Amino acid sequence: MTINHRFNTTAIHAEQCPDEKSGAVSQSIIPAVAYCFDNAESAVDVVSGKKEGRYYGRYGNPTTRTLENKVAVLEGAEDALGVSSGMAAISIALMASLRTGDHVVVTKDVYGGTHKFLSNIATRYGIEYDFVDCTDYLNIENAIKENTKAVYIETPSNPTLTLIDIAEVAVITKRHDLKLIVDNTFMTPYLQRPIDLGADIVVHSATKYLNGHGDVIAGIICGSKADIDYMRKDVMGDLGQNLNAWESFLVLRGIKTLGIRMEQHCRNAQEVAEYLEQHPMVERVFYPGLPSHPQHSLAKKQMKNMGGIVAFEVKGDVQTGKDFISALKVAMISFSLGDPETLVQHPASMTHSSIPESQLHEFGLSTGLIRLSVGLEDAEDIIEDLNQALLCTVAVPMKN
Ligand SMILES: Cc1ncc(COP(=O)(O)O)c(C=O)c1O
Repeated sequence: MTINHRFNTTAIHAEQCPDEKSGAVSQSIIPAVAYCFDNAESAVDVVSGKKEGRYYGRYGNPTTRTLENKVAVLEGAEDALGVSSGMAAISIALMASLRTGDHVVVTKDVYGGTHKFLSNIATRYGIEYDFVDCTDYLNIENAIKENTKAVYIETPSNPTLTLIDIAEVAVITKRHDLKLIVDNTFMTPYLQRPIDLGADIVVHSATKYLNGHGDVIAGIICGSKADIDYMRKDVMGDLGQNLNAWESFLVLRGIKTLGIRMEQHCRNAQEVAEYLEQHPMVERVFYPGLPSHPQHSLAKKQMKNMGGIVAFEVKGDVQTGKDFISALKVAMISFSLGDPETLVQHPASMTHSSIPESQLHEFGLSTGLIRLSVGLEDAEDIIEDLNQALLCTVAVPMKN
């Protein structure tokens, strides 16, 4: 264990050591499904959970175990579970925390997939939910009912980067004996550690910054040993949502550079946000690192740095937003985030296109809103790209 080391040392060394037989420094990829035992007794001990070990690939894998142990250390959790996607992490965490007849309070600007899971699937199994504005803690208190078992939040939110004070929400969940689940995908443990702030369960789309190279779909859940054991044996394993050895290896490799990547994402995003804020063709910029962000002081208290996502409104209608992203040459139009490449999307015509234009404001969105996942390229090149796209698509405002 290297728990006393700083973040980058821990990210590289924690829970990993050279392969005993070959001396190989890099993590071995063990794709085995079956594991053998010296005798029946030890097989029984592992299956019953009395002894740590693997017995069947759907319930755990040695390469994935290394990843789980490493992320648990980085998040300050007792244990972690690697699963097949961020949505698997979210659905497992919710299914493990709720039964038929239970209720969950969910922040209103939650990731679309989480919204869809609750409204399409969870509801069919009698799980109740309320989407509330969790930036006002009174709303959470007011939404808690007798059958409430959990509060689910995401901070900063997607795409308008609204923050929720995790420690404040944890005071409420502890008072009511509820599980607090936090989606930490945007921040990673390098920038924010929800368990230190009182969260019970942390979920990640490891597809994003944790892996960081746009070539893996994966999820991680962190929490107490008891919660993770239950999720592994009674939810993930039984539903077959396990993560495989190859993808675990790739995420482990990505995590080695997580700290330096996040530093560069944050540095670039800050420069991009400052550039956009002074641009006459930009109506508004959403970035927690700008003093103009309404929760800038909470961001400084809760996060180590401000993250790699910048949202902004270009002046114009839906077509202007589409024209603007089409004119970009370095930034790529894409639905993902957290990759080395700068990725851009236009919620009104892409992720939120099902919402009528007249109702966009109800979701805190506008026709010209653009979400930029600022990549690892040189900031000057990203800014020059934004500049040329703004010049060729957005009308210059007339001076009075
Ligand atoms: C904040 C957040 N959580 C969860 C997910 C789901 O992750 P995955 O695509 O790995 O299932 C996403 C995907 O974009 C996300 O942005």
